Amino acid sequence: MAQLFARKTVAQCIADGEAGGGLKRSLGPVQLTALGIGAIIGAGIFAAIGTAIAGDSGHVGAGSAIVISIILAGATSAFAALTYSEFAALIPISGSAYTYAYSTLGELIAWIIGWDLILEYAVGNVAVAIGWAGYFDSLLRGFGVTMPRWLVTDLRAALHDPGLLASAPHLGPIPIVFNLPAFAIVGLITWLLVIGTKESAWVNALMVAVKLGVIGLFLVVGFLHIHPAQWTSPSFAPNGLKGISVGAAIIFFSYIGFDAVSTASEEAKNPQRDIPIGIIASLIICTVLYVAIALALTGLIPWDKLNVPDPLAVALQYIHADWAAGILALGAVAAMTSVLLVFQLGQARIFMSMARDGLLPPWAAKLHPRYKTPHITTIITGIFVAVLAGFAPIGWILELTNIGTLFAFILVALGIIVLRRREPDRPRPFRTPWVPFLPIVSCLFCLYLMLSLPLLTWVRFGLWMAIGASIYFLYSVRHSRVRQMSPPDRS
Ligand code: ALA
Repeated sequence: MAQLFARKTVAQCIADGEAGGGLKRSLGPVQLTALGIGAIIGAGIFAAIGTAIAGDSGHVGAGSAIVISIILAGATSAFAALTYSEFAALIPISGSAYTYAYSTLGELIAWIIGWDLILEYAVGNVAVAIGWAGYFDSLLRGFGVTMPRWLVTDLRAALHDPGLLASAPHLGPIPIVFNLPAFAIVGLITWLLVIGTKESAWVNALMVAVKLGVIGLFLVVGFLHIHPAQWTSPSFAPNGLKGISVGAAIIFFSYIGFDAVSTASEEAKNPQRDIPIGIIASLIICTVLYVAIALALTGLIPWDKLNVPDPLAVALQYIHADWAAGILALGAVAAMTSVLLVFQLGQARIFMSMARDGLLPPWAAKLHPRYKTPHITTIITGIFVAVLAGFAPIGWILELTNIGTLFAFILVALGIIVLRRREPDRPRPFRTPWVPFLPIVSCLFCLYLMLSLPLLTWVRFGLWMAIGASIYFLYSVRHSRVRQMSPPDRS
């Protein structure tokens, strides 16, 4: 039993990190903040905001009150960021909540977080790929190229559209419907990652400039054309508190990624100080931008017209600023490509760490003989993400990502409380303020957003965790490296 909570020492974590080759410490607070913005701004604000405002068949929308939802989701992320930062500074090596949990809370919790992070990284990327496809389609249409609908649709939408099914080619009695752009972009990213393309700090800086540039364009054009009357009742909060809470639970997706800053700990010049600065600064900048985007968007176009895959472009087309819509679609495609790269890379690294620890089969940790990349985990992640992106509807993928990430944040916050009690004297370069009050508030905010998600999302989440538990108890407990090295009383 005690072995379930066997811990990896910090020294072991650092040694494992260094076994991969010491990385050059070159990133300061500005680059780390840029890294955060690079990972954060993507499908959430470019795509998911549409259904968060307008609702869809599965949930109601927030209307113009999405601004309140954004602040609520931003506050939830900020509380989580403060707890994350304590962990990130405590164990300044590349990794994630999985690594932190392994050295502080023990193997079982680490496994739960690692398994849960697949929802954040891989399943999250499915949503980003679908969002990418929406803008890519919009961009092509801007150039006068219209793809057949059966090649840019998800299965659920197709099943609800008899006309589309009839127009699709058939394989015997089965109509072929599928989201080709979403599938293809994941294939391309996977290939790039296998041959060793890493997003360099330089490319990231360029992507961040593109994102901020197109958002700036949207805000300038938007605020020149808004109708403030649209912000007032009844369209302000057409579905009351329920709409605002659901909107927050969905738009939370747009904040996911700030924790990616912590994966650069090994490359930071002064990780103890700069990682928390990078995480918190990128969150603050994104919150301010998101509030401004939401105000412009809901001031431009009636809220109930936004249940579309490319809401920001549609809003610009609504005011006949087609040129701006085209530039925005191009920028959004670039922005989401960088998010895809960061998350796909992150997922492969997490799988690799889990395999290195013996919790997943050792072949998963192998590096490619020529490219020196974790090609097996990269390809497995790629296939999983590409196939799901080819068929799944964005709505339920987003909700599953959010519930999983919120759950991981709860575990991290509880971890801070446990660790303060268990190891009060461990040096803490960054201390979460007001422990245990702030972590408890963080848990409550996360739980509130989780409870705002539909029951079906909870069922899917439960199934996912049950699959994880089966793998852990059938495979990982018997192969764990830490268990093999350590006596049971370590924990
Ligand atoms: N926050 C990231 C996005 O919105 C996941 O694409």
